[in-house]
Amino acid sequence: MTAILLYLNAMDEREIQPYIKSKIFGKELVCLDVVDSTNLKAKSLIHRGAAAGTVVIADEQTAGRGRQNRVWLSEPKKNLLFSVILKPTISPEQIGVLSLYAGLAVAESINGSLGIRPVCKWPNDLLLNGKKFCGILSEAIFNESRLSGVVVGIGINVNQSSFHEEIESNATSLRNVIGKEINRFEVLGSVLEWMEHYNETIQSGPMNDILEKWKQYTEMFGKKVAIAQNGKLTSGIALRLDKDGGLIISTINGKQKVLAGDVTVCS
Ligand code: BTN
Repeated sequence: MTAILLYLNAMDEREIQPYIKSKIFGKELVCLDVVDSTNLKAKSLIHRGAAAGTVVIADEQTAGRGRQNRVWLSEPKKNLLFSVILKPTISPEQIGVLSLYAGLAVAESINGSLGIRPVCKWPNDLLLNGKKFCGILSEAIFNESRLSGVVVGIGINVNQSSFHEEIESNATSLRNVIGKEINRFEVLGSVLEWMEHYNETIQSGPMNDILEKWKQYTEMFGKKVAIAQNGKLTSGIALRLDKDGGLIISTINGKQKVLAGDVTVCS
């Protein structure tokens, strides 16, 4: 009896596969009930030679990781927690564009399938009604100085309706915006299709197409922004993206490129 209940409770690849329409992305699907972090699992798979497009997905993470050493909290079985293995032949300087690429794929997917247009917040958050519903953590794996792969970890709040008090004022989910439950595996399938759509561009660059399309989903250009990074605050007017995905801002000391940080749009 216990065995049957455990089986019914397990994340079942057969439940997900019908929604995977992409050919490379999700062809190898590692489905886990619980894992420390799908990014950690995907990184270990890269070391074991996993193919590009391999997806690790879990119902629950015990040590979900966010950018800048933060944690990623997600109610079990409600949301999407997955990591995609990429093996692009780009130069290490272009790795920053991969988070924009993943953000663009999520934005295109949500816009196309649900008819709601998310805002991309540099470098890798997606917002609806000013609140975050998706975060992306990209991690590059090097073998000596050679790039052996990149793990793009994506957390999408799909059906979670309430959030931990620390994040409740800034977090939302697709369900909260649309007002009804959504099939999270349908969202997964659509995001993977969009990732595959732009895959050729990120394989070898140049990344201009990704940058141009990403810009259409952001609202920060021409506005005053404050960027917090390692306890340092830089402010200025957001001008444009550089070809490596860095953000060029105009500060009182002249133009400056920022490669990472938390952006607040001030006006
Ligand atoms: C952020 O907004 O700080 C990035 C959050 C990234 C969360 C996802 S959930 C799936 C994958 N596994 C992790 O441990 N993190 C990413």
